[in-house]
Amino acid sequence: MKISEPVDALTPYSGVEPDASWRDEVHELAEQRDAIILAHNYQVPAIQDVAHHTGDSLALSRIAATCDASTIIFCGVHFMAETAKILAPEKTVLIPDARAGCSLADSITGADLREWKSLHPGAVVVSYVNTTAEVKAETDVCCTSSNAVDVVNSIPPGRGVLFCPDQFLGAHVKRRTGRDDLYIWAGECHVHAGINGPELAGRAAENPDADLFIHPECGCATSALYLAGEGIVPSEKVKILSTGDMVDQARTTNAKRVLVATEVGMLHQLRKAAPEIEFAAVNERASCRYMKMITPAALLRGLREGEDEVLLDLEVAKRARGAVQRMIEIGRPGGGE
Ligand code: 13P
Ligand code: SF4
Repeated sequence: MKISEPVDALTPYSGVEPDASWRDEVHELAEQRDAIILAHNYQVPAIQDVAHHTGDSLALSRIAATCDASTIIFCGVHFMAETAKILAPEKTVLIPDARAGCSLADSITGADLREWKSLHPGAVVVSYVNTTAEVKAETDVCCTSSNAVDVVNSIPPGRGVLFCPDQFLGAHVKRRTGRDDLYIWAGECHVHAGINGPELAGRAAENPDADLFIHPECGCATSALYLAGEGIVPSEKVKILSTGDMVDQARTTNAKRVLVATEVGMLHQLRKAAPEIEFAAVNERASCRYMKMITPAALLRGLREGEDEVLLDLEVAKRARGAVQRMIEIGRPGGGE
């Protein structure tokens, strides 16, 4: 079964009001389980606020690998919880709803990657962390949006690099590294691909003084650089950033208004980091239905019942671990609170 079934076909958990008693119960249950709650920047605000740490994929992976807690409750999508389990096999890893998949991770399978590798013998495989454990097991080094350029730069030229699965992140890495031996898989995330160039150009024209924070998975990333290159938007205002880097940038920019091209859950951390700045989504419909499956009720159920536990085939996890460990060693620390 594909993990990312259309959510419309699934029965959502019944509503739970995320009030102070919910928050207290979540923290009490987490303490009883010796659990740390990690939340991605795209989670609903109540989940971001109740978590012990909120951040981007790289920051959360690093915390999963080094924290003392015996249990990790991962409030994010399935590949993120799986990555935590790969890095910390001795820990219990729970995700409040295991059906929370990712359309980008679904765009390449282990068999697809094996076939692609056979066409480029000797090439180094760099997989974005948004992949299944089976794909990671076929990978030399994983990356996130925060360290993809550093990871590719760490590979000596001449061997060829297979970069999967996101085509827009791949194009960004190719531009930044200038490598012509980088081959890119044609996958995409349905949320970010939908944030397109004309939409960005229109919003930028309406807001000439705004900074543009663009996630490199976006369909509009190339257009953003075109706008900068043509002088339509001053180049210092166009920033291609991971979700964690957006928070860091919000703390230092002088802009009064920022247009944000990524999943709309991001606005919550940005507004907390810089309440004086006006943040607006480039596309207000850019909501990831998988991320939003981790509801307050699902988190409570997961903590009460110890579910859904993430279990991995030991051999696959062992083969995937080296690639994920190399990922967390490359690039600067940070990206989370
Ligand atoms: P970050 O690594 O920037 O947090 O992005 C994760 C993701 O799923 C983007 O869609
Ligand atoms: Fe996957 Fe896209 Fe959702 Fe990120 S926003 S988890 S890439 S489907």
